Amino acid sequence: MDKANRGRNIWALGGGQGGSGKSFVAANLGIALCERGKEVILVDADLGAANLHTLLGITYPPIGLDDFIRREVKNIEDVLMETEIPRLKLVAGSFDILTMSNPRYTQKQRIIRHIHSLDADYIILDLGAGASYHVLDFFLISDRGISVITSEPTSLENVYRFLRGVFFRKLRRLASDSEVKEVIELAMDRGNPEGLRTPFELLERVEEVNGKVGMLLKEEIRCLRPQLIVNQVRNRKEAELGLFVKSACRKYFGIELSYLGYILYDHNVYLSIQKGRPLLLNNPTSDASRCIRDITSQLIEGGELEWSLR
Ligand SMILES: Nc1ncnc2c1ncn2[C@@H]1O[C@H](COP(=O)(O)OP(=O)(O)OP(=O)(O)O)[C@@H](O)[C@H]1O
Ligand SMILES: [Mg+2]
Repeated sequence: MDKANRGRNIWALGGGQGGSGKSFVAANLGIALCERGKEVILVDADLGAANLHTLLGITYPPIGLDDFIRREVKNIEDVLMETEIPRLKLVAGSFDILTMSNPRYTQKQRIIRHIHSLDADYIILDLGAGASYHVLDFFLISDRGISVITSEPTSLENVYRFLRGVFFRKLRRLASDSEVKEVIELAMDRGNPEGLRTPFELLERVEEVNGKVGMLLKEEIRCLRPQLIVNQVRNRKEAELGLFVKSACRKYFGIELSYLGYILYDHNVYLSIQKGRPLLLNNPTSDASRCIRDITSQLIEGGELEWSLR
């Protein structure tokens, strides 16, 4: 298919605490898409702690994002590496931690521009932990921003903090319009001694101040539609956590989150990482592999997990 007409999809994995499984999911989602005949590029955008190559069994990537960021090559395509998996390419991460973990605005814009020009059916970005501006910005430029969490309380705390960050980062972008900015400032100011407690309250207040701007913001925030995966699940209660996060997001953030599904805790994940061979290749029929394939179907078809709390 010709490059200009191909419907490119950018998926970003972020918003979970360190070790929740973002990189593991990114690599194996990519492979699951390749199994369906799709062309996929994995981009290790964890600028502080790149390790996606290791999950693909590559010890020392000869070239990576560093070379692009330092302008040693002109195009991001020049740092694309083939992998042993047909149709899967990798942009390996950056190892220059001090300069790259906090890229300058212009560096970040250049990376984003070039990511948009990559030629593949799916481009999967593995983001780092936390809610720094570059993580939020990569998350916001994606067609699907996917958070990977575990059931630990700290992981939940992190995802709420992250989604709050996504909300305010998006609002800041919208506030580049001066009318919107003015209304947001007015809404934040209106003598409420308790102040605004949640992003949702802010949206409600904006709507009181200016109905038109309020509706616009609500629609923009609703369109964010972040996605959620609960990883390392050991029982039904943990799997249901995604549904609680979904309803909390609607109530407190005015954000419609899609719960894509869960991935079972599976010792084969550890074994496959030790071996440097992705789970889908090493244990194609294991519990976690089946979960990843189910989630891939949800993502491709645009659905979400169909079950409700009883
Ligand atoms: N479904 C699973 N079952 C068992 N273990 C898992 C599962 N998913 C991930 N793990 C374990 O969690 C570890 C961390 O995974 P991974 O490196 O993908 O996390 P991460 O979110 O990318 O972390 P970081 O934020 O530091 O980049 C893996 O090395 C693996 O041992
Ligand atoms: Mg990672």
